[in-house]
Order: sequence, then C-alpha cells, then structure tokens
Amino acid sequence: MKILITGGAGFVGSHLADKFIGQGHEITVIDDLSTGRYSNVEHLEGNPNFRLIIDTVLNAELMEGLVRDTDRVFHMASAVGVRLIMEQPVKTIETIFHGTDVVLKYCSRYRKRVLIPSTSEVYGKGASIPFREEDDLLTGATDKHRWAYACAKTLDEFLALAHFKETRLAVVVVRLFNTVGPRQTGQYGMVVPRFVHSAIKNEPITVFGDGKQQRCFGHVLDVVEGLSKLLESPQCFGQVINLGNDEEVSILGLAERAIALTGSKSEIRYIPYEEAYGDGFEDMQRRVPGLEKAKKLIGYQPTRSLENIINDVASEYKKESAAAA
Ligand SMILES: NC(=O)c1ccc[n+]([C@@H]2O[C@H](COP(=O)([O-])OP(=O)(O)OC[C@H]3O[C@@H](n4cnc5c(N)ncnc54)[C@H](O)[C@@H]3O)[C@@H](O)[C@H]2O)c1
Repeated sequence: MKILITGGAGFVGSHLADKFIGQGHEITVIDDLSTGRYSNVEHLEGNPNFRLIIDTVLNAELMEGLVRDTDRVFHMASAVGVRLIMEQPVKTIETIFHGTDVVLKYCSRYRKRVLIPSTSEVYGKGASIPFREEDDLLTGATDKHRWAYACAKTLDEFLALAHFKETRLAVVVVRLFNTVGPRQTGQYGMVVPRFVHSAIKNEPITVFGDGKQQRCFGHVLDVVEGLSKLLESPQCFGQVINLGNDEEVSILGLAERAIALTGSKSEIRYIPYEEAYGDGFEDMQRRVPGLEKAKKLIGYQPTRSLENIINDVASEYKKESAAAA
C-alpha cells in the first residue's frame, strides 16, 4: 500500500514511517523540517520503498499530486509545542488550519482515507476527569495565546467531521495526549526530554509552576500502534478518538523519577510560568485520557510504562552524546 505521511520527519511521523516500512508499505514523507529533523528519517534513505520530499503542506499543487498518488494519508504536519505556539502564534494558526484544509480537500476529491491528529489541549480547562470524546470543550480567552493551538486544532476537527458529514470522507480524528519517547526534542518545551537530558548531565531540572500539575505520558510506540489501526477500521471513520496512556504523574514526580532512574545528582528548581512563557499563559492541573472508546473500536491498550519511557529517552540521549563526542 502507498502511504503519505505529512510531517513524517517529525517525532510521531518518523516512528509511523518506521512501522509502515517494516510492514513493506511504500512511504512518502513530506516535511518542511521546521520542527522535524532529517536525522529522524536518515536511516530510511536508500530504501526503495521510502521517499522524502522537503516542502510544505501549504504547497497545494504539490499536495494534490501526492494525495492523488497514495492510498492513505497520515497528516502529522503541524505547528507543535507550547513554546513555539507562544512565540509564533500566527504561524501556528496558519500551519494548522491551512495545512489541514489542503489535505482534507484533496483527500475528499480523490476519496483517500485520512487521519487528522488533534490534541488533548482541546479539552482546555475541562475539569471532568477523565476526558471523554463527547465532553464539552472549555478554552480560555483569545488574548491568552496558548489557546490558539487548541482552537486551531478544534477547527481542524470541525472541518474533518464536516467532510465526513457531507461526503462520507473516510476520516478519523485522533486526540493525542502527551506522547513521548525517543526522537522528541526538548527544544520546544517538551518536558520529558528536557528533564531526562538535564538529569543525565547532572544539571538543574527546571519545573514550571509548583510542579503539582499532573500529566499522563504515552510511549510513542504504543501510540503509533494505535494510529496504524485506525485507518484500517471503518468503524472509526467520522469519529473523534482519544489516544494516550492514563497513568498519571505530577510534573515534580516526573522530575524525581528522571533523577532516580538515571542516577542523577541534579537539583530541582522552580520558575513561574510567566518567566518561562511570558504573559498570557494558563495551565491545567490534570489531563487524563478516557481510553474506553479506543479500546472498544480498535482494542487499544498501552503496554509501556513511564519507566520504559524515561529509560528509552535516556538511552537514546546517551547513545547520541557518545556518537557526538
Ligand atoms: N507529541 C505529542 O505529545 C502530541 C500531542 C498532541 C498532538 N500531537 C499532534 O501530533 C502531530 C505530530 O506531532 P509531533 O509530536 O510528531 O511533532 P513534530 O514537531 O515532531 O512533528 C511535526 C512535523 O511537521 C513538520 N511540519 C510543520 N509544519 C509543516 C509544513 N507546513 N509542511 C510540512 N511539514 C511541516 C515539522 O517539521 C515536523 O517534522 C501534530 O499534529 C501534533 O499536533 C502531538
């Protein structure tokens, strides 16, 4: 089968590419390398089933040809990461909304199955734990820029479901909760690589706020396993589905686990959110995925723990540091 992965040089997209190449599929990746890295897919270059195109999904003419010539589309390209969203809000909104618009338009025209990733951020300040797909969404005021990401993704969801409603486009919307593992960079404010890398270097670990905020982290290999099943399951078309892991940990607890598992001497420091992200930032205390729907539809069951995640991120970082030395 031919599979197009937009944003396939990114964190999740490159793991998807690995999985599909391993299954013998023909993969085309389009990525503008804005947050993705060539090194994430370098090992696939030379494989006759792999093709990398460095360009933007906003190039509609190019995208039309790519979509026409494929069987499945995984639209992983997006502006990602809280820091990027706070620093480049215009680019965030444009990339998310226009990119998805282009992809959905051509998938609809050429009748291709397509997966649109959304995010747990859309639940916003929702307080009913765990978050279920049918819950109301509660975001903040428009002068609080962090909500631009959630609102742009919400609009993507509406557009995807509108295509399903009007023309029965075979589209699945997936709300990813914090997904972590090897290849994710700490550069854009991603907390797990940031903490683990600091711990290995015995540098101070910086916790934003009081560290009591709780999160759930899903191993990217569990998530990719779930993603790969969704487009082969017609019962998922026109559905919004949570994917992640429901094991909860506080951010302070995460820092402590990173220190313990890497045998680090790092100390923990706290800084206020405003100092980390500037004004206009709000955070949520808890964010837990309700996974019943994913379980019912595709038998989804995460198998990797937080300890597996920290160990995998640490061993990748140690390997990379040794190679660079
Ligand atoms: N990782 C998570 O925890 C998480 C959580 C919620 C949602 N998501 C969603 O999953 C998807 C993948 O995220 P990720 O974590 O792999 O992030 P990532 O930044 O590693 O991947 C995004 C990729 O898209 C590429 N890209 C950005 N703009 C592009 C454009 N205009 N044209 C072509 N390529 C472009 C980037 O270079 C990057 O390779 C995104 O839609 C993201 O919103 C991820």
